[in-house]
Amino acid sequence: MLIVSNWKAYVEDADRAKKLAALAKRLSGKYRKHEIVLAPSYVHLGMLANGNKSKVKYAAQDVSLTTGGAHTGEISAQMLEGIDATYALVGHSERRAMGETDAVVAEKARHALAHGIAPILCVGERERDAGAEYLSLVRAQITAVFAPLTPKERLTTVIAYEPVWAIGKSAADALPPHEVMEMVLYIRKVLGDFMPGKAPAKTKILYGAAVEPANARDLAAGTGIDGLLVGHASVETDTFSALVKALS
Ligand code: PGA
Repeated sequence: MLIVSNWKAYVEDADRAKKLAALAKRLSGKYRKHEIVLAPSYVHLGMLANGNKSKVKYAAQDVSLTTGGAHTGEISAQMLEGIDATYALVGHSERRAMGETDAVVAEKARHALAHGIAPILCVGERERDAGAEYLSLVRAQITAVFAPLTPKERLTTVIAYEPVWAIGKSAADALPPHEVMEMVLYIRKVLGDFMPGKAPAKTKILYGAAVEPANARDLAAGTGIDGLLVGHASVETDTFSALVKALS
């Protein structure tokens, strides 16, 4: 499993960030079949990812639309490349809620890829409607990003399906496993528009939203996902250890 820990702005203290990183290192040594990826704030990303030689990988929580220049406050993909980030989340719902459009998300993915950083494209509906309009929304979110990419870039891009209405909630509110499976199948079908033959089966698809130790195993088993994107359950040492253990 690819286990991506999205620390959001939960982890504000550098010592706490270091403790969580040390734990991730221990867990990835112990449970070797998992790839653990940490997505700290930019500040802690610089501190932890730079020169990192461990099995743990690092992701940025976002990436700028711009390249270097007169852009106060921006963090470009080249800067992320320079600190050994492997991945960058793009289009997380908490960024989309601040006005980020599909076109912006697509441009961010392009910038990341241009610097050897694999985008983790977050998609997902704000609510579920009886007419299944949410499927078209997910299709549009994927299409906007995948259409302009080269075949190789498409293969590098990871998709994280996160039903926005379940984010931050507890295990009981997560999408039930059989519905996760349906969505994964749907996403692979959509990818078939952009990738030949069996290639869509190779794309890594993660599930995120309300993943906790209590539901991690059920979500992972038999749903066709390649990993999990974990928010609140990834920022407490006990909870995160329990979650990785539950998957093993
Ligand atoms: P959550 O967040 O695990 O706290 O629901 C997931 C996410 O937003 O990536």
